[in-house]
Amino acid sequence: MENKRVLITGGLGFIGSNLARKLVESKNVVTVVDSLIPEYGGNLRNLHDLSDEIVIKVADIRDESSINQLIKDQDYLFNLAGQTSHLDSMENPFIDLDINARAQLSILEACRRNNPEIRIVFASTRQIYGKPEYLPVDEKHPQRPVDVNGINKIAGEQYHILYHNVYGIASSVLRLTNTYGPRMRIKDARQTFLGIWIRNLLEGKAIQVFGDGKQRRDYNYVDDVLDALLIAATEVNAVGKVYNLGAPDPLSLEDTAKIMCQSIEDSDYQMIPFPEDRKAIDVGDFICDYSAFRDQFGWEPKVSFEDGIQRSLEYFRNEIEHYI
Ligand SMILES: NC(=O)c1ccc[n+]([C@@H]2O[C@H](COP(=O)([O-])OP(=O)(O)OC[C@H]3O[C@@H](n4cnc5c(N)ncnc54)[C@H](O)[C@@H]3O)[C@@H](O)[C@H]2O)c1
Repeated sequence: MENKRVLITGGLGFIGSNLARKLVESKNVVTVVDSLIPEYGGNLRNLHDLSDEIVIKVADIRDESSINQLIKDQDYLFNLAGQTSHLDSMENPFIDLDINARAQLSILEACRRNNPEIRIVFASTRQIYGKPEYLPVDEKHPQRPVDVNGINKIAGEQYHILYHNVYGIASSVLRLTNTYGPRMRIKDARQTFLGIWIRNLLEGKAIQVFGDGKQRRDYNYVDDVLDALLIAATEVNAVGKVYNLGAPDPLSLEDTAKIMCQSIEDSDYQMIPFPEDRKAIDVGDFICDYSAFRDQFGWEPKVSFEDGIQRSLEYFRNEIEHYI
């Protein structure tokens, strides 16, 4: 993708800012919109060195007039803004509803009225499936979310598909699994437990693994997810479709902790009982089947977990004061 006009919602967040950086490198004209709500992943540091090259709008996607203006004249929309915390979605369910469902509908309405030719990629989540009935989880797996966030993300993605089916707006949906890398939120576990684990390691504290540590997870390094987002945006066969992302080598949480500890001298992990609020919404083992996206478009994660964690730690070692 070159010389295009691109809008990224949630563009000061983890994935959005990495995407903005990549798109600017290939000479696209990039605008990011982000509310910078402190509890979420947005951080001005993520794009501080590119403020002359990227248009940064601090605005809320719930504000329809801002979105109406921003959508005009864009070739592409990467719709990544979201409330991402599963626990927060249980504590403040209506905020999650407003951002992850209602605001998505108003973004699509803004596109329908102001720019029906726009090409959209929406970031959904594996959380919509809930506790797996079988592994790996493919796109046909029943959807039984275990938290409010999962339900609202289903609404968000279904609005995108509906607006394609009814109005011909060219949308694609990717269901992301655990994504990590430079510029993620590491202040706490709101975005993912990997964030707080990175922080703990860099601060010389033991990583805490909940439960018996046997739950398996699949991880994508952010650069691999950026490749997938760009494929979804540019492949005509991805229009109107929903795809899982995933990784070939799932790891148990304990093995994840071991690998991370190997990257930092004198680091350690400890097993602790599952906190009650997290246990209630934990899904156990989770592995995504990403073969549909792989087989159709040739996408395959390239960065191993060992390598991705090294790169992430290296980034945060120099930048930690801006992220805690
Ligand atoms: N990182 C992951 O592991 C993962 C997994 C599954 C799905 N996703 C999805 O990918 C997308 C990007 O996630 P991320 O990991 O970069 O998270 P993030 O929190 O770093 O990015 C989301 C951004 O959206 C912004 N935002 C939230 N509400 C907003 C609002 N009302 N108006 C404007 N901006 C708002 C936040 O400030 C933040 O910068 C999200 O939609 C998330 O659900 C991420």
